[in-house]
Amino acid sequence: MQIIAHRGASGLAPENTLKAIRLALTLGTGAIEIDVQQADGELWVFHDRRLERCTDGRGVLMAQSRTYLESLNAGEGEGIPTLWQVMEAIAGQAELHIELKGAQTADEVARLTRRAEAELGFTTAQWVVSSFHHPELARFAALRPEIRLGALTSTIPLTQAAFAAELGAWSLNCDVDFVDQQLVQDAHDRGLRVLVYTVDDPADQAMLAAIGVDGIFTNRPDRFLPSAKLDSLCRG
Ligand code: G3P
Ligand code: MG
Repeated sequence: MQIIAHRGASGLAPENTLKAIRLALTLGTGAIEIDVQQADGELWVFHDRRLERCTDGRGVLMAQSRTYLESLNAGEGEGIPTLWQVMEAIAGQAELHIELKGAQTADEVARLTRRAEAELGFTTAQWVVSSFHHPELARFAALRPEIRLGALTSTIPLTQAAFAAELGAWSLNCDVDFVDQQLVQDAHDRGLRVLVYTVDDPADQAMLAAIGVDGIFTNRPDRFLPSAKLDSLCRG
């Protein structure tokens, strides 16, 4: 089962920061998920619509200036990184799952993935672009049809995984609170992988493995790594 660090290693460092990204890499996580939003002509790696929970700032992120966003503390002295800064930190060392958090993200993600392939050593196969905003995901697909798509849902749709197949997705990304055997089977029958968020408990992972889930997004990738890897990290 694939292990994907959710917002970086966000159970161990402030979410969606360069510290969380670097920690996920140090732990040996092969894939990292982040959220991106657009403000003042830049893509910022940040989950919430508003700034209060994760920073010392106030207001809606998309309404802020670059100068203001650059001034904020996103935890432990970390700033809000841009997508390009995260790409530079990873530089092809792991898969990057980029979740489009809303409108005005697809075009810039298309541009930056191309640039990162040219300048940072990423391959096209190392990206998965996902979204709950299916029109924005479809827009991205039209711009970069060769990149894998993750179709996000927090529901069990009446037509099961049909919407993901309609989008031409590579994976159905669904909520641990809703996923069940029928949805996994339906997705597999349509040729889709099934990735589940957010799974921090090994007992949940075992249940998901039993129904055929292909990967999990976790805030605690350390809990799902082979013990040999953790032992070697502890020994330094
Ligand atoms: O991409 C999986 C997961 O990140 C989706 O939900 O709200 O944590 O971005 P959320
Ligand atoms: Mg996300």
